[in-house]
Amino acid sequence: MTHTEHKNGDIWLDIDGEPIQVHGGGMLLHQGVYYWYGENKDSENAVGAEGALLDRVDVIGVSCYSSTDLLNWKNEGVVLPAVSDNPEHDLHPSKVAERPKVIFNAKTGKFVLWLHIDTGDYKYARTGVAVSDSPTGIFTYQRSFQPLGADSRDMTVYQDDDGVAYLLHSSDWNATLHIARLSDDYLNVTGVSVLAFEKGYREAPAIFKRNGRYYLISSGCTGWNPNPAQVAVAESVLGEWHVQGDPCEGEGAETTFHTQSTFVIPGKDGKFVLMTDRWRPKDLRQSGYAWLPIDWDGDRLILRWRDTWSGL
Ligand code: GAL
Repeated sequence: MTHTEHKNGDIWLDIDGEPIQVHGGGMLLHQGVYYWYGENKDSENAVGAEGALLDRVDVIGVSCYSSTDLLNWKNEGVVLPAVSDNPEHDLHPSKVAERPKVIFNAKTGKFVLWLHIDTGDYKYARTGVAVSDSPTGIFTYQRSFQPLGADSRDMTVYQDDDGVAYLLHSSDWNATLHIARLSDDYLNVTGVSVLAFEKGYREAPAIFKRNGRYYLISSGCTGWNPNPAQVAVAESVLGEWHVQGDPCEGEGAETTFHTQSTFVIPGKDGKFVLMTDRWRPKDLRQSGYAWLPIDWDGDRLILRWRDTWSGL
């Protein structure tokens, strides 16, 4: 099955005609191949999960799909699977494992996966790290922790051109975004860190670099329900971040077109594409994807709805 486009907002199909399960995902380009990682939610919503505040599915794991054209996706399987036989394990199905992001460390030759690890009540609030020799896993889970002692929920990792990588995570009960430089092996945070958007309540961070400046798209904090996006701009990942405002234009702008940001793909010829999720809280496995090419008015970022995604 070959695809020339996907319908934005729907769940997309892979080359076998099966629904793609990589929610809250991120993208790694490695040796000419795109690897799309995300939450596999291919299960019915869990009913009456103890302590769970929000609609959820049991953890299945992190799935990966590969493609060379960002349209035709091959299922590479669950590359970080849930651990069913130990209720205490961070990856037990009863836990929360969200927003996985993978970066490649050229010095160590390792693929490093970071993700949000939590309990169903979202009070554990940690980030987890896993490592693999191959982009398609299986990743070996290392541990979870609270970076520099701070709670951590929605997050992303960003690798700059110079090889320095950063963890950006919602902290202080989501009030503030913490940005910490990673160690050279990408397995830990260093003491170099800053706070951004204090009391700004930002989630779902997606960061990229254009013409030497950094842009950060994020959502507000309303759980699975959509809300207005925000863009901020900085001369360095560690700030200072200046809020540019809501980038969305047109019908549905006030809910980011009923989506939530998750990652920005730096494409060819200076083009950028925002990957978003259209969550379906009552049937999370059917949550859709919408990828929106970013438009520009000089240095001002603009997001407009597109009915389809047809590649770069
Ligand atoms: C959102 C967050 C998602 C998920 C959800 C749970 O705010 O961005 O990753 O945690 O809440 O309700």
